[in-house]
Amino acid sequence: MLCHSRVLGCGAYLPQRVMTNDELASRIDTSNEWIVERTGIRERRIAADGERTSDLALAAARAALAQAGVAAAEVDLLVVATTTPDQTFPATATRVQAALGLEAGAAFDVQAVCAGFVFGLSVADNALRLGQAKTALLIGAETFSRILDWEDRNTCVLFGDGAGAIVLRGLPGPPSPRERCVISTHLHSDGRLHDLLYVDGGPSTTQTVGHVRMHGREIFRHAVVKLAEVVNEALAANRLTAADIDWLVPHQANLRIIDATAKKLGLAAEKVIKTVDRHANTSAASVPLALAEGIADGRIKPGQLLLVEAIGGGLTWGSALIRW
Ligand code: ACO
Repeated sequence: MLCHSRVLGCGAYLPQRVMTNDELASRIDTSNEWIVERTGIRERRIAADGERTSDLALAAARAALAQAGVAAAEVDLLVVATTTPDQTFPATATRVQAALGLEAGAAFDVQAVCAGFVFGLSVADNALRLGQAKTALLIGAETFSRILDWEDRNTCVLFGDGAGAIVLRGLPGPPSPRERCVISTHLHSDGRLHDLLYVDGGPSTTQTVGHVRMHGREIFRHAVVKLAEVVNEALAANRLTAADIDWLVPHQANLRIIDATAKKLGLAAEKVIKTVDRHANTSAASVPLALAEGIADGRIKPGQLLLVEAIGGGLTWGSALIRW
């Protein structure tokens, strides 16, 4: 029987250490003014020595399970969206699975860089819809600080570490109108744009992890166009307009990209959740971190309509509509 999936809870974790723009400016040729003006970023969190992506993921997972009122043992699908796994293999998700004391179900990683959470959401939602699993834990977790070239001012000022998670449950039958559920997900990739954003290493290429390299202006241009397209795709697929949306929860890459997307949609700034000023770009963690903040401070309320979007290396991009 076909099912639908509902988000039961959301949680987040940020490493304690705050790195300000001024601290960066004391090490490389940049300034707080330049970073704030071009990106909106003021500070970012950096994982402690020895703190791994799975540690961040586990903390966010526990917070999400607690908020959902779901016991870890109920989880039968665990997906971690990450580009900075603890190791090349096994999947970071299996580490989290073991740390949660799970002995059954499936755990694996999804790799779609900054769009990873939206891709993971699509995978989890589809599995729940088909009845392949009943309770899914989806985590976006990153320690991007580990793959940055801290001498490269073009990239190192843009990213931060963190994790966010949601718990989803498959419920029987199709959703009734206005029922809380994941309404639809929309995914795209264009591998021809591979070289715009990548790491210059990898197991089968250099046998190293590599560092982030980026053509910032090109990424910016593609981001504004593709995000507008994919949010409109989600609206059109559900015969909705931007006026129906309560909250845009965008990938937090750059304030100018977020503002441009909201403007193209005609959405007021007050309807957009923004954390980029304090978190910077946490890649796959950025959307669930923003979600968790909007829920914790009471802005996002049950029954509201959320439009989620993200774009990242690949290029990969996607959107999701969620009745919260
Ligand atoms: N501090 C000071 N100057 C800098 C810095 C810095 N941190 N970084 C670059 N500059 C300099 C450049 O060297 C260049 O100097 P030049 O003119 O002497 O050569 C000048 O600033 C302008 O560089 P541009 O790249 O043209 O600056 P732009 O206005 O495009 O802003 C930025 C750069 C912020 C990277 C922008 O292109 C951007 O946000 N792109 C999107 C990238 C992004 O969000 N990536 C995240 C991953 S992908 C994703 O999540 C969507």
